[in-house]
Amino acid sequence: MRVVAFNSSPRDQQTSKTELVLQKFLDGAARAGAVAETIYLRNYRVRNCLGCFACWLKTPGRCIQQDDMTGELFDRLLEADLVVLATPLYYYNMNARLKTFIERTLPMSQPFFEKQGDRTDHPSRFGKVPQVVALSVCGFPEQDNFKALSLNMRMIFGSRLVAEIYRHSSEFLPIEHPQIVPQAAKVLAAVAQAGEEVVTEGKVSSATLEALTQDLAPREVIINLANEHFKQELARLTQE
Ligand SMILES: Cc1cc2nc3c(=O)[nH]c(=O)nc-3n(C[C@H](O)[C@H](O)[C@H](O)COP(=O)(O)O)c2cc1C
Repeated sequence: MRVVAFNSSPRDQQTSKTELVLQKFLDGAARAGAVAETIYLRNYRVRNCLGCFACWLKTPGRCIQQDDMTGELFDRLLEADLVVLATPLYYYNMNARLKTFIERTLPMSQPFFEKQGDRTDHPSRFGKVPQVVALSVCGFPEQDNFKALSLNMRMIFGSRLVAEIYRHSSEFLPIEHPQIVPQAAKVLAAVAQAGEEVVTEGKVSSATLEALTQDLAPREVIINLANEHFKQELARLTQE
């Protein structure tokens, strides 16, 4: 199985928590025999969709804009068996960089309307389309923060969406705190397990999902740690 991950975080690989969780997931997928690569969208220029429908009418299957989406990324997406769309949660949804990327995949659809169950959708243009895993991380310590993102992903990808990996309190995963270190290890092991299960079973078991979404510490502990961190950073920066 060929897995291509698109990470839309603006942060570098050492700082990005999307990257931390994504690479664990890909480790698990590789353990099960998948060949995985990561594309960092911050390194590419992807323009906004023009809404011109040229990809449906004038140049069917191809966007008329010339940028990295038409030059490289669209083909990389189509070559994959499984695509992981990885984004930090921004205002309860995917960030703008990932949304722009997804909007530019309109040439994958045909313009026609078709009934799909109780919804209407466009038929796919290509015979083989990759399955999708949505992956996201957020700062606040509740799983509920991903509600809108999850609905959005399910509406966009329908049955192509094989798994959703959403990790709250993500900024605290790498911190050296006696209560958090063992919990973070369990969470990251479960994320790798999820990667393995997607390749071997085509889905993630409810036990693995439960393990990867478990709390790192009681909510009050996370809130206090966050506030201490920001107070210290503000004090340090005012002294500089
Ligand atoms: C503009 C912006 C909006 C954010 N919105 C949310 C949010 O709605 N809920 C939340 O829990 N965290 C939010 N966060 C925090 C990020 O999701 C969190 O810091 C995440 O770990 C960043 O991932 P990254 O390190 O891969 O960039 C936001 C951060 C930024 C910069």
